[in-house]
Amino acid sequence: SFQVRAEQSGVTVTVGKDETIAQALDKAGVDILTSCEQGVCGACLTRVLEGEPDHRDAYQTAEEKAANSHVTICCSRSKSPLLVLDV
Ligand code: FES
Repeated sequence: SFQVRAEQSGVTVTVGKDETIAQALDKAGVDILTSCEQGVCGACLTRVLEGEPDHRDAYQTAEEKAANSHVTICCSRSKSPLLVLDV
């Protein structure tokens, strides 16, 4: 598991291995947007303020993924213990 802080919302959640970042944030009342939930459409693309995402989507290019500036929260995870997002 890892933690995600929703900076704008002031909420920190723990994302367990059986849930997505989007699900954990939604459960905590953070307003997030998803659509395909399969890493394809980009609707859930969220800006990363701190931490290193573990990209699992097919939406961002390899270059975009390497920049670690955005993450698809419907399916991607985190390599760092804490990921801080601009939501
Ligand atoms: Fe489509 Fe995340 S909801 S990529």
